[in-house]
Amino acid sequence: MSEYENRRKKLFELLPEGSLLLLHSGVSKISSEDENFPFVVNNNFFYLTNIRQENSLLFLVKQISEEKTYLFIDEYSPEKEKWTGKRLSIEQASTYSDIKNVLTNNVLDSKIDLALKEGSTHFGKIKYVYLDLSNELKVGDDLFIRDYQSRLLSLYPNIQIMDIRPLITPLRMVKSNFEIEQLKKAINLTQHGINQILMYMKPNKFEYQLANIFYCYGIESSRAPLSFQTIIASGKNATCLHYPTQDARIKENELILFDLGYKYDGYCADISRTYPVSGKFTDLQRIIYQTVLYANKMVIEYAKEGVTIKELNDKVIDYYKQELPRLGLIDKDEDVRKYYWHNVSHHIGLDTHDVSDRNKPLQAGNIISDEPGLYFEKYGIGVRIEDDILITKDGCEVLSRSIPKEVFEIEELVKQCQNK
Ligand code: GLY
Ligand code: MN
Ligand code: MN
Repeated sequence: MSEYENRRKKLFELLPEGSLLLLHSGVSKISSEDENFPFVVNNNFFYLTNIRQENSLLFLVKQISEEKTYLFIDEYSPEKEKWTGKRLSIEQASTYSDIKNVLTNNVLDSKIDLALKEGSTHFGKIKYVYLDLSNELKVGDDLFIRDYQSRLLSLYPNIQIMDIRPLITPLRMVKSNFEIEQLKKAINLTQHGINQILMYMKPNKFEYQLANIFYCYGIESSRAPLSFQTIIASGKNATCLHYPTQDARIKENELILFDLGYKYDGYCADISRTYPVSGKFTDLQRIIYQTVLYANKMVIEYAKEGVTIKELNDKVIDYYKQELPRLGLIDKDEDVRKYYWHNVSHHIGLDTHDVSDRNKPLQAGNIISDEPGLYFEKYGIGVRIEDDILITKDGCEVLSRSIPKEVFEIEELVKQCQNK
C-alpha cells in the first residue's frame, strides 16, 4: 500500500459510518487587482493526496460495508493554460495520489447531490459531512470554508457538519519512515546552506546579505523553498525572537543567530545556531552559550514517549533558575522568564509549527524542536540553539546532530569556512 493510501486508510478507521469528507486543497488569495499570492496548499489535503494543485478536492465516503475515494480536479482548459500554465492531467493526478477515481470539478456538485439529497441511496445514508473548518481556508472566488459550510447546510439541512482537523491532527503528529526521511533531507540541505552563509560571513556585511545567500543556495541547489522567513540576527538584534528587519551590519566581536530551514517535499527543517562572527567566543558569550547548550542537551536527555512538552520546558526553566543566579547573570530566580520567554518545543512537519495537541504526552514518531534560548539585551547577546528531534519509545534521535553546536566545533568551523 502506498504512503498516501495508507494515510487515507488510517483516516477511514477514524471516520464514523455514514460520513462524507469534502477536503479542499484551497485556492490562492488575491494580493492586488490582477495578482494572486503564490498558492499555498492546505496541508491536510496535501497530507492525504500528495497533490499541490489549487481548486482540488478529496471526496471520501465511509459506510459499514464500503469506503469510496474520489479526487476532483479542474477540467482541462486550453484557455486557462495560456494564462497560468499547465495543470495536472487526470492520469498524473491519479499517479501522484494513488487514487483511481479522479474526476473533474464540473461533476462535483452532482456527486455531492447524489450523496446528500434526501432519500438518495447512492452512497447509503450520509449523516456527517466533514470539512476542514480552518477559518482562513479559501475554497473559491470570494468563498471561504465557513461560507461553503452555510451553503451546504442550506441545501441539505439534515446533515451534521463536522470538523475533520481533530481526526487528521493525530495522524500528522506521528511521522512515518517516509516523512522522517524527507525531513532528514531538509535538515541536511539546511546544514549545507549554513555552511554557505559561513563562507560569506565577514564583519561589515549586512544581515540581509547572509539571508539572501541562504535563500539562493536552496533554490540553486535543489529548488528548495524556505520553511519560514529566515532569521539572521547579530548582536542585540538576536534578543528579538523573530527579528524581521535584517538591516544591520555584522560586527566582528558579536554573536550571530541563524534561525532557518528549507522545506524538502513540503517537510520543514527548523534549525537555530548561534556562532561568533570572529570565530572565537568571548568569555561572557561562551558562558551564556554553554548554559543554553546544557539546556538543549538536557531536553535531549529527557525527551521520550510519555513526556509532555510542558515538562520539557519546565525542566529548562528550573535549570535556568538554578544556574543563572549562580553565574551572576540574574539576581533573582523568578526573573528567568524575562530572559527566556518562549517555549522549548513545538511539533515539526509539513508546517514548521506543525499541527499538534500540545497537552498530549509525546509519542514515538513525533518530531519536535528542542530550542532553548537566553536573551540579554544589556549585553547585546541572544543565543538560541535549535535541533529537530525524533521521539522514540525510550528516548529521542537528534536528526540535526551533524550541525556543529559544541564550542570547539564552532570555532573550528567558522575559521575553516572563512578561510575558503
Ligand atoms: N523558526 C521559528 C521557530 O523556531 O519556532
Ligand atoms: Mn526556528
Ligand atoms: Mn522552532
